[in-house]
Amino acid sequence: MSASFHVRPGEDADRLPLAVLFATVAEERDGIASEPPVDVEARAARWTLDGTLVAAADADGELIGSIHVERSRYGTGEIGMLVARDWRGRGVGSALLEATIEWARANELHKLCLSVFPHNARGLALYRRFGFLEEGRRVQQIRRSSGELWDTIEMGLLL
Ligand SMILES: CC(C)(COP(=O)(O)OP(=O)(O)OC[C@H]1O[C@@H](n2cnc3c(N)ncnc32)[C@H](O)[C@@H]1OP(=O)(O)O)[C@@H](O)C(=O)NCCC(=O)NCCS
Repeated sequence: MSASFHVRPGEDADRLPLAVLFATVAEERDGIASEPPVDVEARAARWTLDGTLVAAADADGELIGSIHVERSRYGTGEIGMLVARDWRGRGVGSALLEATIEWARANELHKLCLSVFPHNARGLALYRRFGFLEEGRRVQQIRRSSGELWDTIEMGLLL
């Protein structure tokens, strides 16, 4: 597999691949809050492309990662991101985050925020490296389909 990829704004044709990737990562029941079943068609239809950047493999254009910034009215943006399992640990998340920070500055946001599970070592390493600071912990914030209650770490980056 070629290790090269590029980051670009999400476009209409990405809707279905974005939703399929999201559903695949949800099936891991580990890094993101959503769990199966994911209604792929519905998610594809309502995906907000404004504030979405995607990573695509240079070799075949396959969508291998995405990041979305949900803008609030108050100058902040809430990040959600994921990378296809086979591509993790190869800089895709870093490239998406770097491009997003640039996008957020260009769009005059003053802060990026996110929630991450405490066991998500890869995510925490990535966010810390970009200067995100831990701002708190929400206790038993997310009920899993197993019945477990998972904490989240709240992180923020002033731009
Ligand atoms: C979190 C995620 C987006 C990171 O993307 P990625 O492409 O793997 O990120 P990168 O390769 O750019 O960087 C990952 C960093 O974690 C480090 N890392 C990898 N495995 C690790 C581990 N087991 N423990 C600690 N750090 C680890 C890498 O070394 C790298 O840091 P470095 O470049 O300083 O060495 C991706 O792993 C993912 O999609 N996970 C599943 C979904 C998810 O958790 N989304 C985020 C929800 S908050």
